[in-house]
Amino acid sequence: MIRRTFLITAIALATGCDWMPGKPTTPQTKRGNSEAIHGFANLWGTNCQGCHGAEGTWGAARPLNDPLYQSLVTDEWLRATVSDGIDGTLMPPHSISNGGRLTDEQIQEIVSGMRSNWTGSPPPYAAKSPPIINVGPATGDPAKGLATFNTWCSPCHGENGVGAMAGSPIDSSFLALASDQMIRATIVCGRPDVGMPDWQGNLHGEKVPEREGLSPLTNAQIEDLMAWITSHRVEFPGQPYPPGGNQSPGF
Ligand code: HEC
Ligand code: HEC
Repeated sequence: MIRRTFLITAIALATGCDWMPGKPTTPQTKRGNSEAIHGFANLWGTNCQGCHGAEGTWGAARPLNDPLYQSLVTDEWLRATVSDGIDGTLMPPHSISNGGRLTDEQIQEIVSGMRSNWTGSPPPYAAKSPPIINVGPATGDPAKGLATFNTWCSPCHGENGVGAMAGSPIDSSFLALASDQMIRATIVCGRPDVGMPDWQGNLHGEKVPEREGLSPLTNAQIEDLMAWITSHRVEFPGQPYPPGGNQSPGF
């Protein structure tokens, strides 16, 4: 008897078996424990892909895997954005200190992963770009912004921004979902995924016909455009309601 107990104990020790009924196995412990997730693909897939697409290409924001965009944002800013989220938008805070599920180490892993997994060279003129991060509220002139819009942007977005081949960037519902930072980044980097050129007028390295003969936008012009576009933010975005409330006979 003593011999048999000894044998069982010896086998248990030798095979490293520490399982007892009711005790969760290692994979079970890891399930639901977000701190145990590591590796860029896992972290991205669990926390970001649902909104930003598998390769950072699609979704609620601009394409994050655009090399020009990646060359203009710093690691520090990316960490802060992932950690704190973007106020007033659907981009949620992710750090544990802000009520999210990611440790600082995991956030760093995601930021390094975006840099090393999404390769591609920014255009040679990237260094001359106007800034896209940490820019304050627009100081430009809305009237000048409208004039600039009606030359540089209207071929695609329609005269006075009402929308044409591309949608209306002054639509109140669009403005309710987008931060100033996102709008500025769009004007500077364009939307290479859907055909909008960068501030130089280039799309995938070629000047688009709509910007032929037009100079690159200056930072002052971008400030004016920002002032005009954001002047369309309203308190209650969406469908206009009749003044005096709903007058339909049903009410
Ligand atoms: C060659 C066409 C073209 C030109 C020129 C152009 N855009 Fe766009 N823009 C697009 C397309 C296509 C989209 C994609 C979304 C859509 O259809 O509205 C877009 C989207 C946008 C968005 C919204 C971004 C989003 O994620 O939905 C903003 C803001 C914008 N453009 C501003 C401008 C401004 C300001 C200018 C002038 C400096 C400009 N665009 C010039 C084609 C263009
Ligand atoms: C619930 C949807 C959602 C999730 C989940 C989400 N994002 Fe976002 N994210 C957004 C939206 C919407 C924006 C654009 C907000 C704006 O208008 O500035 C955004 C913007 C961003 C930006 C700035 C883009 C710009 O315009 O400069 C970065 C960087 C970013 N997200 C990274 C991440 C990472 C990394 C994760 C995962 C850890 C993540 N996001 C998870 C919705 C989401």
